[in-house]
Parts: sequence; structure tokens; C-alpha cells
Amino acid sequence: MKYLQLKDDLKVSQLAFGCMRIAGMSVEELEDLVKVSLDQGINFYDHADIYGGGKSEELFGEVLKRNPDMREKMVIQTKCAIRRDKVGYFDFSKEHIINSVDESLKRLQTDYIDILLLHRPDTLMEPSEVAEAFNELEASGKVKYFGVSNMNSMQMELLQSGVKQKLLFNQLQFSPIHAGMVTNGLFANMKEAQAVDHDGSILEYCRLKGVTIQPWSIMQASWEEGTFLDNPDYKEFNDCLQEFADQYNVSKTAIVIAWILRHPANMQPIFGTTKSKHLIEMCAGCDIELSRADWYYIYTKAIGRMLP
Ligand SMILES: NC(=O)c1ccc[n+]([C@@H]2O[C@H](COP(=O)([O-])OP(=O)(O)OC[C@H]3O[C@@H](n4cnc5c(N)ncnc54)[C@H](OP(=O)(O)O)[C@@H]3O)[C@@H](O)[C@H]2O)c1
Repeated sequence: MKYLQLKDDLKVSQLAFGCMRIAGMSVEELEDLVKVSLDQGINFYDHADIYGGGKSEELFGEVLKRNPDMREKMVIQTKCAIRRDKVGYFDFSKEHIINSVDESLKRLQTDYIDILLLHRPDTLMEPSEVAEAFNELEASGKVKYFGVSNMNSMQMELLQSGVKQKLLFNQLQFSPIHAGMVTNGLFANMKEAQAVDHDGSILEYCRLKGVTIQPWSIMQASWEEGTFLDNPDYKEFNDCLQEFADQYNVSKTAIVIAWILRHPANMQPIFGTTKSKHLIEMCAGCDIELSRADWYYIYTKAIGRMLP
């Protein structure tokens, strides 16, 4: 496993364990999977208050309770700000941020969260109000570090203008199939549809500002389609991944990991598997260094992309 040293006391594994899909597991199954991940050198666990309606954090908390020595080996991240009441909405109010952290702490059975992310941009956000929440959470020791998710560059700038804590992470959907943040950069200043900037050059912004991008849904074609792995609609891409998998004697998923890690943005992909076999297969990707030509080959084969 490789690691990113982001602060003196913040060393995170390059691969992160996503907890969105764990709610249906038993405590024993999750405990086994977490132990496998620790054995692989993974130390980073990504949660959200809404995963499984709170069940994911609760189950994870049970695992921590059964294994009191585990907590200090882990970097635990959670998110807040997506709410579902009468309607779905986003909430960066001080009250909601603080209450949500308190509830997550209870469910996770821990007294601190390493990193708190704001899950989706709230257009009604007041940076000064978020600042009050962050300051209170930091001063009480409940949260050590902060970041965001699904934000474009100007939204990050706006929020950063009000909060004193550096926003360390931005969690964004990214995979060889969902690679818009790469594509619009490649087509800069051209008339083709690929030049449309959907995210304010977030990839370049994060590199400039030293923000770690955490790609999510790295094996998914889209929410609607599910995974692209062995999906007949993505046959050419699967054949391409298999070609490299055979060459390096690893799984196709290891090649996806190697592709994401080859980008110099130094991303921290978050996987969502619930199977130890799949987890171990993906870790092998950390040791593969793809060439520049191979990187572009996979990018173009993914959905028959053309370069400008
Ligand atoms: N910030 C956000 O808005 C946001 C949104 C979505 C997700 N996330 C975070 O990102 C994490 C990952 O998202 P995700 O779960 O969509 O990621 P993913 O890793 O792309 O998807 C995992 C899915 O692919 C399946 N899969 C099938 N074959 C596989 C194989 N050979 N190897 C690995 N997986 C295989 C997994 O099933 P098996 O269990 O059978 O392996 C699982 O259902 C989440 O847990 C969450 O922490 C964040």
C-alpha cells in the first residue's frame, strides 16, 4: 500500500474503504472485511450520516466496540449536509452540521472524527456560518480536519474564503468512464461538446490548491447502469482492461486503480466493494505504474473517445 502524508499527523492510505454499501452486512462480515483491509495496509474509512440511513455508521461502530485497538489505526471520515425530510435538500447550517457530527459520533462509538466533509453544495450556504460550526467542532476536538464533496472550484473558493481551516479534500465521481474533469481540460477552447466545462476546471483547481481528490464510484458506469465490469454495454473497455490485466497478471479492477493513480493529481480512490476478494484484487493496482501511452489508450478505449 502507498500512503499520502497530508499533514504531520495525517498519513492516509492511497486506497480508501467506502462504507456506503455495508448496511446489509452482519457485524461479523464487516469485521472480517475491515480486518482484511487493515492487513492490506488500508487505514482510511469513508462514511456519511445518510449511508444506510445511519446503519452503516452504526455497524462500523459495533466493529470498533468489539476491537478497541482498531480506532487508533484508522482515519475515519464522515459527511453531512444531505437531508431528506419532506423533500431532499442540502443543509450547511451551523445547527445541522453540529447535530449531524454528534449523531455520527454516537453511531460510530468514537469521540472524534478525523475528517468531516460537506456532502453536496448548499446554494444557501453562508461561509461565515459554516466557519462557526467548523471552529466549534475543531475546538471541542470532535473533528480534526475538513473538506467537501461534489463541489466545483468557485464553490470551494467561496467556502474557503470564510473558513480558516484548509479544505483538504474534494470527493468527486471519477473513473475511466466518468472522466469529464479530464475531458474538458483536453478539449480546452474547442467548439466540440467535450469542451463544456461542467465543474470549473476542478481537476486543475485541486492540483493548484493541494486538495486531494477522492474519486467515488470508481467501478460504476453510472448510478442507473451499475458497474461497467463485465457489462456487455462496455465490452470494448472490458477487453482493453483484460489486455492489461493479463499483461500484469492482476484483475481488471487493479488496472482501473492503476489508471486513477497514474494521474499526477495524486488522488485517493474510494472503493465500495463488500467482498474481501475484490478488495485484495484492487490493492494490487497500487503497485502498477502505467506508461503515459497506456494511460491514454485506456482513456480513449473506455467509451470510444477521440482526442482533439
Ligand atoms: N460523495 C459522494 O457523493 C459519494 C457518492 C457515492 C459514493 N461515495 C463513496 O464512494 C464509495 C464507493 O462508491 P461505490 O460503492 O459506488 O464504488 P465502486 O467501487 O465503484 O462500486 C462498488 C460496486 O461494484 C461492485 N463490483 C462488482 N464486481 C466488482 C469487482 N470485481 N471488484 C470491485 N467491485 C465490484 C461491488 O460489488 P461487490 O460488493 O460485490 O464487490 C459494488 O457493488 C462509497 O462507499 C462511498 O464511501 C461518495
